[in-house]
Order: sequence, then structure tokens, then C-alpha cells
Amino acid sequence: MIDLRSDTVTRPSEEMRAAIASAQVGDDVYADDPTVNALEERVADMFGKEAGVFTPTGSLSNQLGIRTLVRPGEELLTETFSHIVRAELGAGAAFSGITTRTWEGDHGLLVAQEAMAIARPDSGPYLVSTKAIAVENTHNFGGGTVQPIDEIRALRKLTSSVGIAMHLDGARIWNAHIATGISFKDYGDNFDTVSVCFSKGLGAPIGSMLLSTKERASEARVWRKRYGAGMRQVGLLAAGANFALDNNLPALAQDHRRAREIAIACSLAAPTSVDLDYVHTNIVVLNLVGSSESAQQIAASLKDAGILSSALGPTTLRLVTHRDLADADISKTNSVLPDLLERAFKS
Ligand SMILES: Cc1ncc(COP(=O)(O)O)c(C=O)c1O
Repeated sequence: MIDLRSDTVTRPSEEMRAAIASAQVGDDVYADDPTVNALEERVADMFGKEAGVFTPTGSLSNQLGIRTLVRPGEELLTETFSHIVRAELGAGAAFSGITTRTWEGDHGLLVAQEAMAIARPDSGPYLVSTKAIAVENTHNFGGGTVQPIDEIRALRKLTSSVGIAMHLDGARIWNAHIATGISFKDYGDNFDTVSVCFSKGLGAPIGSMLLSTKERASEARVWRKRYGAGMRQVGLLAAGANFALDNNLPALAQDHRRAREIAIACSLAAPTSVDLDYVHTNIVVLNLVGSSESAQQIAASLKDAGILSSALGPTTLRLVTHRDLADADISKTNSVLPDLLERAFKS
């Protein structure tokens, strides 16, 4: 099967497994795991932050981040299709008593004024006050779109003048960096808390991290343990993440090129199915409005041809490229998918 469902399907390479097998470990609940400690320092330093907290998932590092910024009964703002509100099963409300309002961005893209238009920073004793804004970069359901750094900076300026904090869901910040050349520190400088994932395109099997001040990291560490995610000899996983940072970043450019090849083939066959201006990284989201077949039907036909994709809704099909694919897989996809689209849009 050619698996284009997500970049989370990547498996650790033999070399990564060797790095994992030989990792120095200790009990991380006692802060005794040298590999975890080194990774936390390394990544915090990359993003210009004081401290890092290694977590098993990006959902947890997002949730730990926002709970240090927003108290129960206060409000987080984010884009309508962001992972924090669409795919974390209401965790902010369930665990932290956080309420959420959203604005909708074109392909998930941030426009600072659109976010600020719904912000209510100091609403007094009767209304909910906005305490933080979360930005997802790259934006998964938006189609891997890269947030414009000027809009991030503009939002930082506007929010800091009214005491609103900013959280970055940087599960795929690596892809944004490779696509733009903007440094991790430039991204980190604009946010109070940053969540990054090693388990997506970087190819580590498990692992994410929250980055922030020492104070917030200490608070997040307590909540991580409270949630049951205090891990013991977890240097095994940190070693995989460390290996990924050493070796796997440059290959993201190849994932981007391959996603673009798929998008171009689709747009030639069915021009309204994808707007190439919004294919920035390793994700292609196809818009099937006007097609006689639903995303589920196209996904089923693809599966019959040995290609796995994700139907995100009746008219939305997502394909994600990653390091476990070969160019031949892209050629095969491009020999099947455009024909399916052409038929579905003509009939
Ligand atoms: C943008 C974004 N943020 C956070 C996550 C959560 O990561 P995890 O699956 O490790 O909880 C994902 C997962 O795909 C994601 O795409």
C-alpha cells in the first residue's frame, strides 16, 4: 500500500532504531534521563526558549501549553479548523475548563486583524476574557499552509499590548522552516508557548515537546505527571527524536516537492480540485465540490488501486507525503488519482 493518509505513518529507520537501542537512559520522573534532558535543552535552545518538556503526543504538549496560559473559565481563540479545536476532543474544556471561540481563515491562514477582531481581552466580571491565541503552523486541515511571518509578528504586537498570550501549535513547524528558511528562533520569539512534534514528517516513532519559560515548563511538568504522562526511561524515545533532528530535516524538502507534483497532476485533471497557490509543504487537500463522487468514494477507488488517503469530509480528501515514500509511489499516485478526478468532475 502507498500510504498517503498522514506523515504520522512513518516508521523508524534501521539507523534510528540503532540510536534508540543504544540510548543512555534514567528515570525521567526524577529528571535523571540524560538523553531526555539533552533533547529538552537542545530544542529549547533552537527556539530561543528557556526550557522544554518532553511529551508522548502533540495533543498533550498543546494542552499543557494552553493550560499554562489560560485559567478555567477564561478563553482561547484559534482558527476554526485548527487541530486544537477540531481534533483534540475538547481537551481544553474537559481538562482545563477553557472556553474557545474561533475565526475562520482562508486555508487556515492567519490574518492578524481577523484574530483580533474577535478578541475580548479584558471583559470585566460578567463576560469571558480572552487570555491566549493559538496559531497552527503549518496548518494541517488548511492543506499544510505556512503562516505568513508578518501576520504572526503583527498579531504578537497587537496581543502583547493588551495582555493576550500566544501559543504555537508547531507540530509541523519543521516544514514551515524548510519551506521558508525562517529560523526556529524567529518563530519561537513570537510565542509564549510552543509545541513541536518529532513523530510527523521527522519520522520519530513517538514524541513531542512543549517549550516555554522555566516557570511554565515546571508547571507543565506537574500537569504532565497529573495526567499520567510522567515517563520513566523515555530516553529511548528522546534518542529517536534527537536522531531525527540530526538527520531528517533536509528531506522534508523532498516531501514538499512530491506533494506539489501530486497537486499539479490533480489540478491539470480537475482545475477546481486544488489551488496550487496554497500547496506550501507536504499536504494536499483536494476540494471535491462539483465532483460526482464523494471523498469517501474517491478514497475507496484509490484504495482499490493500492493507495491510502484520508477523506476528511464529503468533499475534502487529504494526501500527505512523507519520508517513507519513494518517487515511484508518487508516479503511481499520479497515474491513478488524476484520472479518477477527471472522471468524477466530468460526469
Ligand atoms: C497540527 C497538529 N497539531 C497537533 C497534533 C497532535 O499530535 P498527536 O497526534 O501526537 O497528539 C497533530 C496530529 O496530527 C497535528 O496535525
